[in-house]
Amino acid sequence: MMYTPDKTETVIIVAGGKGERMQTSVPKQFIELKNIPVLMHTISVFLSYNSKINIIVVLPQTQMENWRELCKKHAFTIQHLVVKGGDTRFESVKNGLRYVGNKGLIAVHDGVRPLVSHHTIKTCFEEAERCGTAIPVVDAVESIRQIDDDGSCSVDRSKFKLVQTPQVFKAEILQKAYEQVFIPLFTDDAAVVENYGIKINLVKGNRENIKITTPFDLKIAEALL
Ligand code: CTP
Ligand code: MG
Repeated sequence: MMYTPDKTETVIIVAGGKGERMQTSVPKQFIELKNIPVLMHTISVFLSYNSKINIIVVLPQTQMENWRELCKKHAFTIQHLVVKGGDTRFESVKNGLRYVGNKGLIAVHDGVRPLVSHHTIKTCFEEAERCGTAIPVVDAVESIRQIDDDGSCSVDRSKFKLVQTPQVFKAEILQKAYEQVFIPLFTDDAAVVENYGIKINLVKGNRENIKITTPFDLKIAEALL
């Protein structure tokens, strides 16, 4: 059964990046996995989680036409609003936020995380509805060392979590937080909201929910999809 919440749910799927670490000519969000572009996999997961969700997709300015053609080629008919991205993820999210109001809940999700589970999405929305903010995290499985001026030292791994998306917030909180001036620490939405003075609640993510970043990640994603 499809889940239909009573509060408005919006997801801003950010795919406005260049994918430089992937080192492919086509940006990684458009690479095909099982014959379907990564970004289409990602959009589909959100629609199958909630058939009423508002979907906003942020794309590089140079890729708008390409995306239209890809949608035609793949007969991709899921309704979504396309918005131009910016030079940083922060700017891309901010552009997306112009098309959402102050009501309901907003999730921000990386377009290159097609393996997010319905359970992760649902838990994030529920926790954000309860507390205002929710982000999915997983444990680090490897040991962690901190680099300092004299070399490095081991740290207590249990004190660290790896952060995923979707990061979900009450709309009024996220809109206000994104009025701040950009600082380089803003690599995700939680950093922006936290810097605005609001506590971030952690929920359990799913381990498969990797951010496709390097050619190695593509192989993993292909195997898991
Ligand atoms: N993103 C975006 N706008 C930007 C930069 C990033 O919307 N100016 C999006 C990416 O498209 C991606 C997500 O934010 O879906 C996470 O960013 P990342 O994995 O770093 O993607 P890229 O910036 O594209 O990759 P790279 O850093 O390797 O160039
Ligand atoms: Mg990047």
